[in-house]
Amino acid sequence: MSTEQHATRRREDYRVPEYLVEEIRLTFQLYAESTVVTADTVYAVNQQSTDCTGRLQLSGENMELVEVRLDGRRLEADEFEVSAMDLILVPGKDRFELQVVTRIDPVANTALEGLYCSNGNYCTQCEPEGFRRITYFPDRPDVLARFTTRIEGDRQTCPVLLSNGNLIESGELGNGRHYAVWQDPFPKPCYLFALVAGRLVAIDDTFTTRSGRDIALRIFVEARNRDLCDHAMRSLKKAMQWDEDVYGLEYDLDVFMIVAVDDFNMGAMENKGLNIFNSRCVLASPQSATDQDFLGIEGVVAHEYFHNWTGNRVTCRDWFQLSLKEGLTVFRDQEFSSDMNSRAVQRIDDVQLIRNFQFREDSGPMAHPVRPDAYVEINNFYTVTVYNKGAEVIRMMHTLLGAADFRKGMDLYFARHDGQAVTCDDFVAAMADASGVDLGQFKRWYSQAGTPVVKVSGQWLAEKRRYVLRLRQSCPATPGQDGKEPFHIPIAVGLLDSRGRDMLNGDRDGTRVLELREREQSFSFPDIGEKPVLSFLRGFSAPVKVELDQSREELAFLLAHDTDLFNRWYAASKLSEIVVMETVARLQANAQPVLDSDFVAAVRANLQRPASDKALLALALQLPAETYLAQQMDTVDPVNLHRGREFVRSQLSSLLADEFRRIYDDNNEEGEYRITPEAMGRRSLKNVALAYLMARVPTDEEIYALCCGQYAEAGNMTDAIAALSCVTRIEGRRRQEILHHFYTRWQADPLVLDKWFTLQAVSPLADTLAEVTRLLANPSFSMKNPNKVRALIGAFCSGNHYRFHDVSGAGYAFLTDRIIELNATNPQIAARMLSPLTVWKRYDPVRQDLIRRQLERILAVDNLSGDVYEIARKSLQ
Ligand code: PHE
Ligand code: ZN
Repeated sequence: MSTEQHATRRREDYRVPEYLVEEIRLTFQLYAESTVVTADTVYAVNQQSTDCTGRLQLSGENMELVEVRLDGRRLEADEFEVSAMDLILVPGKDRFELQVVTRIDPVANTALEGLYCSNGNYCTQCEPEGFRRITYFPDRPDVLARFTTRIEGDRQTCPVLLSNGNLIESGELGNGRHYAVWQDPFPKPCYLFALVAGRLVAIDDTFTTRSGRDIALRIFVEARNRDLCDHAMRSLKKAMQWDEDVYGLEYDLDVFMIVAVDDFNMGAMENKGLNIFNSRCVLASPQSATDQDFLGIEGVVAHEYFHNWTGNRVTCRDWFQLSLKEGLTVFRDQEFSSDMNSRAVQRIDDVQLIRNFQFREDSGPMAHPVRPDAYVEINNFYTVTVYNKGAEVIRMMHTLLGAADFRKGMDLYFARHDGQAVTCDDFVAAMADASGVDLGQFKRWYSQAGTPVVKVSGQWLAEKRRYVLRLRQSCPATPGQDGKEPFHIPIAVGLLDSRGRDMLNGDRDGTRVLELREREQSFSFPDIGEKPVLSFLRGFSAPVKVELDQSREELAFLLAHDTDLFNRWYAASKLSEIVVMETVARLQANAQPVLDSDFVAAVRANLQRPASDKALLALALQLPAETYLAQQMDTVDPVNLHRGREFVRSQLSSLLADEFRRIYDDNNEEGEYRITPEAMGRRSLKNVALAYLMARVPTDEEIYALCCGQYAEAGNMTDAIAALSCVTRIEGRRRQEILHHFYTRWQADPLVLDKWFTLQAVSPLADTLAEVTRLLANPSFSMKNPNKVRALIGAFCSGNHYRFHDVSGAGYAFLTDRIIELNATNPQIAARMLSPLTVWKRYDPVRQDLIRRQLERILAVDNLSGDVYEIARKSLQ
């Protein structure tokens, strides 16, 4: 496959559009396999543009062009050029109306971009470049237009017809057909356009804004899901309230709609006034959704709602600026969730995502800055770097400015840019201007890829009663970026005395924020009368790796005493990391592993301490994931890594059996199901204890019965899945029986079946790949449904490090076969599945060779999509 077919786009090549759109009127005549779209668009020359080619170039893909009219006159075939990707004509006027008629096939659309069908209902997905699969248009985010949308469809199969904005007209057409016209008063880029048509029911509610406007809230789902929307609706109202309270931001249309569909490439989409969601991010009941699902739904509903201001009212100039809306909106949804639930738990979850996935991306062939400089396929840049590291960058500004000035910066950002398409630089400028803080150096966080490393050494000078902290920062090279300039890094620290009390009187309860700007810098703390224990990078104040030699005693002390709850967890996780990696090293040296008795004592002490926050205790008890630990090895050794981690788990299980049992019993009381932070914390602690109890080798029969009992009697999905997940790790007849029971019970619920597929895919048992392969043929599985692909194939390849990396190479071949299959139907999902293969250079020569051969096999495929090409190609470079 030649590179010319997969052109690279560069940020530096940005030019303002030559033509702007004043208005677009769309008419959809919906038919399953042949929908006709008529677009009447008023164009005018952009006065800002200096390119005067006179050519109007409109993007368009995968459609049939029926006709083109310029100011009413039908153009002859020689008056325009049409190719597989665009339509070009020379209008010869500064202002004109173009009518473009296209024909599309929603049923055949398996890529799920543009207009497609999901369970017989029509829906659209236009971000980032899906609108060009609906009509020929300047499909770029800096062309904002007023949209009016007329939808004509069959009354029987499509009683509901929706688009952005307000319904201005509807009626009958005869022939069993009807129509609706929607008008969106806010100019928007076409990526925010949406249409939904189908047989759906609405759940209604209202929200009164602080200025007294009543907003109609409507969630549309298939009738079978009618009772599963309460949590999403509650979450929406909380999000609307929060955005008013924290940012003074009110909703701007009279109606806010959410539609849930089963087939969706991502989590959800913030189309103006008509958010379209993956049903996984809307539907929940205690019986069918876990606590994590409830939290996830609350977060995603809020995220999409928050986009109305950060994304829609102020949007991106070009897709290189994606983090302008995504990093900021993720930061906003994380803060919202922290305010609604446990702040410390939320922070730990967010940091785990960064450490487990973003750091890995940042150290591999796909590493890119938060604001990328180049891409082949923009779909490949909806990444943990743009989203989650982007959110950390916003969080650091929040830390450097303080909450009050950050809010001033947000106000200024909206005052300056409401209704515009802008850049990350514009955002930072608003923050800097509103606060007076110089963010010049800070902006390197947008342009330099890679995870900075901060080397720390602390020294207490007894005679001077002074503590000196010496910091050194560096950042490894990433593709295309060899040398890096130093970052401006906010580092929150505390010093604890021997009784665990904070010694610094910083602005934030004993925490001081240091600003590291140089490659090497020292910070001095006067009046430190005893040797302190350093609590470094509190709250994970920057997305960096820390190199700090702390003894196990110090870590155990921090675990017991740190006033920063995040750092307590961090100490626990660091301690277990050290112990697991030590075990792995012994296994690699063919030595008998032994579990450090001080570690066991620290865990025991942790278990015996009255748990003020059960969720935090549960998190502290969990050993770091294999995917995280793998990053700590020079050459990843999947087998010994798994064995080492399992050894630690089973040892803790037998040495602390009584403690775990007591914790289990103390927290097993399940009254009426509630999703308060306390109740969720209690359930997670109980289920962590259960997992440890079940990790004993050989299995304790009484515990096994206890676990099966929990599964059988569980009144909620959290407890049922926790028990089932323990059982699926142990071979035997009962495993098959329980899995079968679960399948039969939930056969009609695709979201619950996703969990069933995943549990089997992540099992460490030897025949997991064979089982996964068999499950591909299960009638409930479908390669056309992204949730199913992720639940089974994604879970095995990204969530089962040990079995996926089997040295036979069977896992690699299996994934490659699936990627090749998906490349033809859904390139976006195919490309996402590639990620576990991209980091092949971190493995031993045998595995390296096996993976490289699969990547080469992928690159040899005919008609390879740009999505898959880009990632496979970069991986091999
Ligand atoms: N913009 C969506 C969000 O983050 C994500 C998305 C991207 C959805 C592309 C679909 C396609 O909220
Ligand atoms: Zn988003």
